[in-house]
Amino acid sequence: MTEQAILVLGGTGKSGSRIAARLRARGAAVRVASRSGEWRFDWNDRATWDHVLDGVAAVYVVPLDGAVLTRPFVERAAGLGAGRLVLLSGRGVDVPDYIVGDADAGATHVDGESAVRDSGLPWTIVRPGWFAQNFSEGFFREAVLAGELRLPAGDGAASFVDAEDIADVVVAALTEDGHAGRTYELSGPRALTMTEVAAEISAATGRTVRYVPLGPQEFVAELVGQGWPEGDAKEYADVVSPIRRGKDAYLSEGVRQALGRDARDFSAYARSAADAGAWD
Ligand SMILES: NC(=O)c1ccc[n+]([C@@H]2O[C@H](COP(=O)([O-])OP(=O)(O)OC[C@H]3O[C@@H](n4cnc5c(N)ncnc54)[C@H](OP(=O)(O)O)[C@@H]3O)[C@@H](O)[C@H]2O)c1
Repeated sequence: MTEQAILVLGGTGKSGSRIAARLRARGAAVRVASRSGEWRFDWNDRATWDHVLDGVAAVYVVPLDGAVLTRPFVERAAGLGAGRLVLLSGRGVDVPDYIVGDADAGATHVDGESAVRDSGLPWTIVRPGWFAQNFSEGFFREAVLAGELRLPAGDGAASFVDAEDIADVVVAALTEDGHAGRTYELSGPRALTMTEVAAEISAATGRTVRYVPLGPQEFVAELVGQGWPEGDAKEYADVVSPIRRGKDAYLSEGVRQALGRDARDFSAYARSAADAGAWD
């Protein structure tokens, strides 16, 4: 393991925290960087960029959705001699009709991918589909706790990927040879409908969770009724729409390509999240 530090942006988030923990367990010097991290880093404050980048062997880049800042950051990383880049992008970035409306992440990931490819540094792009951890650490958690997943996902399925697998792939790309120039699309081993997700979480937790399909307009109206700004509610509906339109059900081989093993199943995720008290 290199003596030089590895910079983990978004190091307090769902993927970054797992990556930092794995790197530390291997004895690496890790810079956990974010607005609240040990190393203060704010995408919106360029004065915070150089000190986190100074002298690092590798960088895990979690971009800021809705911003187009990855290119100047990557250029700065190259200028300061960073060794290699691993970028978190998203599945669907190159799929026509995947993104609808003004969903925040689309332009961010298109910019980010081209920026790392142009960087002149060794790079790896990781494109996960929907994280399983959205149900335990992300924007679906409150709905699970309330017992009802009220979403405009229709009967669509998504091949949810476990953030533990994302972390394993990213750590391999940060620390091993053989991943430069690769774009890994990551999914779990099967696609689940929201009804199946609710059943898995119910079985793992012993609490009753059910899926209530809403039409997109009904969903937006419901959120607005709860005080959401209409634009944010529409964007949330747009982000979920690929599931409803069947565009998130396909399986991706990136976990096997990068690690030579199968991806973790949603059942295993749900059990371990329940055991860890994620929904207590
Ligand atoms: N969730 C999914 O299903 C999914 C699927 C595919 C791709 N993605 C992509 O994954 C990315 C998010 O990754 P994640 O889920 O691992 O992270 P996350 O759990 O959403 O956490 C976001 C991280 O970014 C940091 N952050 C937020 N605003 C920041 C700012 N202005 N400057 C610096 N750091 C900031 C946060 O820390 P502080 O609050 O301390 O700053 C936190 O560490 C997004 O680009 C998203 O498009 C997500």
